[in-house]
This record gives sequence, C-alpha cells and structure tokens, in this order.
Amino acid sequence: MAVERTLSIIKPDATCRDLTGRINARFEESGLHIVAQKRIRMTLGVAEKFYEVHRRRSFFDDLCAFMASGPVVVQVLEGEDAIARNREIMGATNPDNAEEKTIRRDFGESIEANSVHGSDSLETAAREIAFFFSDIEIVG
Ligand code: CMP
Repeated sequence: MAVERTLSIIKPDATCRDLTGRINARFEESGLHIVAQKRIRMTLGVAEKFYEVHRRRSFFDDLCAFMASGPVVVQVLEGEDAIARNREIMGATNPDNAEEKTIRRDFGESIEANSVHGSDSLETAAREIAFFFSDIEIVG
C-alpha cells in the first residue's frame, strides 16, 4: 500500500446540519490525516466545472445547484491507500445502499444530499486536489 492523497468535500446538507466535526472525526479515527481544509461557497460555475465529467448526466443541473446552495468544506485527506479507504468510510453513493457505520448511511439524506464526495482514482484525485488547492496550502 502506498501513501496517497484524495480530495474530500463535505457537502451543503452536512455543513448546514453542523456535521463537519463528526465527519472529520470519522476520517481521523480511520487513519486519514486532514492535510488541507477550507470552508467555501461554490458558485454555480465552479460547481459545473468541478463536476464537468457528469455534464451529460440527467442529474447534472440539480447536482450543481445543490453544491452551490450552501457552504462546503473542501479538504485533502492523506494516508495509506487513502482513495479506497475514504470510499469505504463514505459508503455507497446512495445512502440507502451504504453499509452500516459509513458516513453516507449515518448522515446522508438522499443520493444527491449524500453528505460527502471523495475522489475515485489517483488521476481524479490529482485533478480534484489541484482544482481547489495550491501546493503551499497542503501541509502533511
Ligand atoms: P459525488 O461523489 O459527489 O459524485 C457525483 C454526485 O452526483 C454523487 O456524489 C451524487 O451525490 C450525485 N448524484 C445525484 N444523482 C445521482 C445518480 N442518479 N447517480 C449517481 N450520482 C448521483
């Protein structure tokens, strides 16, 4: 296993319910270090650019509007096998299908308002981290 970095986003449904601390505890208790973090409000344009890969999907417009609807916490998580590890901790995209004790199962409200986003591959992680952070903002 290699030490990796992954991009995580705590979504508006979670920040609005003050779940940031409880979600961060899940990461830290699982051995993922938060090496960069900021709370921002995405514009619609920023959300559309971030989710560009989903542009042709039926849920694209709703997804982008939701991500721009309130504050989000964007963060870089670092640790052994961080990309797969974070996906385990998050659980399946649809909270109804997520395993017990995962973030989406415990906190997610719907497939859209599913509390967290995490990168799905090394390539995606590199792109998504660079989308929000410069090297100087990531402190391992
Ligand atoms: P996320 O990991 O942020 O990546 C894309 C998001 O689209 C996904 O989580 C879901 O919140 C959202 N989404 C909304 N509807 C769907 C759907 N039908 N299938 C997959 N993702 C969806």
